[in-house]
Amino acid sequence: MATLLVNIGQLVTISTGGERWKAGAALRELGILSDAAMVVGERIQWIGSPSEAYRLREAGLLQWDTLYDVGGRVVVPGFVDSHTHAVFVGSRAHEYRQRLAGATYQDIAAAGGGIMATVYAVRRASEEELVEAARPLLWNALRHGTTTIEIKSGYGLTTADELKLLRAIRRLATELPLRIVPTFMGAHALPPEYRDRRAAYVELICQEMLPAVASEGLAEYCDVFAEEGYFTLEEAEQILRTAQEYGLRPRLHADEFTPLGAAELAARLGAVSADHLLYVSEQGIAALRESGTVATLLPGTSYTLRLPYAPARRLIAAGVPVALATDCNPGSCFCENMQMVLSLACQYMGLLPEEALVAATLNGAAALERSHELGSLEVGKWADFLILQLREVVELVYHFGVNHVAEVWIGGRCVWRESSPPAVEEC
Ligand code: NIG
Ligand code: FE
Repeated sequence: MATLLVNIGQLVTISTGGERWKAGAALRELGILSDAAMVVGERIQWIGSPSEAYRLREAGLLQWDTLYDVGGRVVVPGFVDSHTHAVFVGSRAHEYRQRLAGATYQDIAAAGGGIMATVYAVRRASEEELVEAARPLLWNALRHGTTTIEIKSGYGLTTADELKLLRAIRRLATELPLRIVPTFMGAHALPPEYRDRRAAYVELICQEMLPAVASEGLAEYCDVFAEEGYFTLEEAEQILRTAQEYGLRPRLHADEFTPLGAAELAARLGAVSADHLLYVSEQGIAALRESGTVATLLPGTSYTLRLPYAPARRLIAAGVPVALATDCNPGSCFCENMQMVLSLACQYMGLLPEEALVAATLNGAAALERSHELGSLEVGKWADFLILQLREVVELVYHFGVNHVAEVWIGGRCVWRESSPPAVEEC
């Protein structure tokens, strides 16, 4: 079943030349086509002008089954949220209040809260309860424009509980229209039962968790929180190298709270992405540039924890491909809305709206090694796109705090449409 979409006020293709990611000055180029038409099946079949579409059909060179009038609105690729911890149970709203009253993320973790608070809740929950808790959150991400989302484990920290989380992620992936990319993150925190036996926990990850995750095919990537008080660079390297032996490719929480040199490690390991980077050094930036590792920036976390923002302008100037993601998690950033992330990136990291949009689509797809089939509107890619209730795409960021997404299409099918508000007399 193919659909011809016509009367697209602005078709924001993001890329027209098959680029796998954009960096530097190219990050500003959106490839906008005005008054465009697009034929979609599961994948994008054709892009051009409406008159050309009809001419080709006359000539027997193009066909479609249904016609859809976009009404002059804006069409963009779906957002690719390449960093989340979105499957968990429980609330840490009290920690949010504690931080507003002056406590730091580290103070709260040292007092037994933080990641471990969610770990204890997840250990008590069933796989079913994890699925139930995540479902509304993921639908919320979708109706705000996310069509592909990466989700990490890391709130189990025992073999059984990490597997339970990853199985919940797999069930959500089969049930929801979203494209879900699973990451194993057993090295999210050192569980207190291993406080004086760090090496034993790293061994557990390498000898038990990774083989089990790999044998069930539950994750594509392995991530490590390389940070003071969490995992050292040496431990991160050991875990990520072992993960690679099991076919899980590396990504890294790098230089989030301290300038540890984790960006350099990510580059050295050929990690797909180095994330956070609030405290990345000049050498770290140069190393990322050299290795082609994507720098995934998470401004919602700086906003929530009231920390400095990652040096986005310096990364862009150095030619590093920059992606934007939510980091959606119950502690440091409880937000599943990529439009909010675009707004923060422009306001606090100095990105232009165009740069933010490329970072949230094509470069997000690159951070998940899917930019050959996702992240831009080009013939042959999956037909994952949003119809925005806008005339001009720049308003997506300029007019903030409201949901501009009117429709979400994934694989050429409308999976969510905003219903019009009831008339007053119907209320
Ligand atoms: O990316 N940095 C580590 N993990 C998350 C926080 C998770 C949590 O607090 O539950 C982050 O900020
Ligand atoms: Fe994170």
